[in-house]
Amino acid sequence: MCGIVGYTGGREACPVLLDGLKRLEYRGYDSAGIAVFNDGRVAVHKAAGKLSVLASALDGVQLGGSIGIGHTRWATHGRPSDENAHPHVDCSGEIVVVHNGIIENYLSLKEDLVARGHRFTSETDTEVVAHLVEEAYDGDLAEAVRQAILRLDGSFALAVMCRHEPNLLVAARRHSPLVVGVGSNENFIASDVPAFLAYTKRVHFIEDDTVAVINRTSVEFRGLDGRPIVNNVHEVEWDAAMAERGGYEHFMLKEIHEQPVALRETMRGRLSSEHADVALEGLGLSDEDIRSIDKIVIVACGTAYHAAMAGKYMIERLVRLPVELDVASELRYRDPIIDDRTLALVISQSGETADTLAGLREARRRGARVLAVCNVVGSSVARESGGVLYTYAGPEIAVASTKAYTTQLMVLALIALHFGRVRGALTPDRDADLRRMLWTIPEQADLFLADYGDLIDCAERYHNIGGFLYMGRGPNLASALEGALKIKEIAYIHAEGYAAGEMKHGPIAMIDPTMATVAVSTKGRTYEKVLSNILEVKARMGEVIAVAGRHDEEIAKYADHIIRVPETDELLSPILNALPLQLLAYHVAKFRGHEIDQPRNLAKSVTVE
Ligand code: M6R
Repeated sequence: MCGIVGYTGGREACPVLLDGLKRLEYRGYDSAGIAVFNDGRVAVHKAAGKLSVLASALDGVQLGGSIGIGHTRWATHGRPSDENAHPHVDCSGEIVVVHNGIIENYLSLKEDLVARGHRFTSETDTEVVAHLVEEAYDGDLAEAVRQAILRLDGSFALAVMCRHEPNLLVAARRHSPLVVGVGSNENFIASDVPAFLAYTKRVHFIEDDTVAVINRTSVEFRGLDGRPIVNNVHEVEWDAAMAERGGYEHFMLKEIHEQPVALRETMRGRLSSEHADVALEGLGLSDEDIRSIDKIVIVACGTAYHAAMAGKYMIERLVRLPVELDVASELRYRDPIIDDRTLALVISQSGETADTLAGLREARRRGARVLAVCNVVGSSVARESGGVLYTYAGPEIAVASTKAYTTQLMVLALIALHFGRVRGALTPDRDADLRRMLWTIPEQADLFLADYGDLIDCAERYHNIGGFLYMGRGPNLASALEGALKIKEIAYIHAEGYAAGEMKHGPIAMIDPTMATVAVSTKGRTYEKVLSNILEVKARMGEVIAVAGRHDEEIAKYADHIIRVPETDELLSPILNALPLQLLAYHVAKFRGHEIDQPRNLAKSVTVE
């Protein structure tokens, strides 16, 4: 996830672009850049670090010019650096491009382009676009962009300028957001409306595979076949703060709703409906390495630790390798048995959590190979690991982790499938079934998020309850722990996550009418057992909210409230079960009137031990 902007009109471009980028910083903040056209040349300025670094560098510089493009980056291909910051240029420096998304086939395109003599100056996937436009350019930028995007696989929102057409901006999109703002004698491009809301509320929302041709007085749209497309202007009503959160009241809610897209992005290029295997670029382990591992140790904290717990069930069942779990703060103090046949799997959204980093270093010191599952490109965890599989969740702003968790689960499922296949532990039928089910998870997440009114009623009913017990079994023990953590973090209600079978060994003593139990009741190996555990709670006057499958009729005989989620394999179900648990915590916290995005006593990234 990155933010792109473009401007053409009567104002000086630089301040408009910087202002727009400031409002898109929530989409990425590891480097930024702008390109402004003035006096027959395109001036490009970019810098690693937050936007403020670029803004300071430009302070007092008179760029002039009233047309330009800009970018704030959240690295996916290539670490955050000056060279990898956008805009990117072609060999001549005359074509300038900013991009949000992932070009999946960039490696093969780059090889071809290099073979034809193109010179690359960055590690990004984006730079291929500048060179493809350069090759296709014959005096018509819009046509060159159209031809270039015909060759791209993956997702993109692009803004492109060319020195030979100084009054023109060309934009295009596929699977990445892009809007065009219409002003009076000025027009704007952006990833999101807040970038230009201070100037206009008139917006074109652009469909996939559209090319937009923009100058200061007109905007035209064309399809991939080059034919004109009609796109009506809409008037938006949001204020600036609301718009930054995409119309959502809080970043947490926005991020919950971003999960279908984040899951798709995380799957992209790794799993496809046609391909028979999982492709894990960046894994850093050959098939031989995978076969030589005799144990996996997973190191993580908080929500990432809960993802690790579900991952343990996936890997043990599908790969038949023993998996040990450690909260990172414990690993280095317990003298773990780790050697060169151990794979340390390090999971972290930020990649900067001090305990997790210390655990990673300890595992390496003992000879383990290290594979990271991380959301921030170029972070310490990513840099210090032998291989990295990124979760393409985009920046997570709310302190309570949501989309990072479900994308971590997605990557863990991909690892389990790949390792299971390489080690011959998965039958082809089971492999194909799971891949098919994993493929439909983003769609199922969309389906759930489209309608969950009952859940809000449930949150209202319980928002003043004395406490919550979350119980689950198998991979959904992780769901129970994560559900309880979410409610503690933002609703400040005491909550325990427990293995349902353990209830009778102690926690059941807490059950009374002031305690609500959330039972994750997914059909699977231990479904009947969970039903018995629910009966034990009911027998003690406890109220039960069940998270259960859409078609589960049995559960209605047991629970007081049922939150229904689309069905999938039990091993993958923690991904979908996370959605109602996140939303329950969110709405309970909201009914209690809490500050949701920045809960008390917490920080987004814990960089101290
Ligand atoms: O950035 P990390 O994934 O390493 O962070 C680990 C935990 O600090 C984090 O998951 C924390 O538990 C979240 N606030 C939970 O919502």
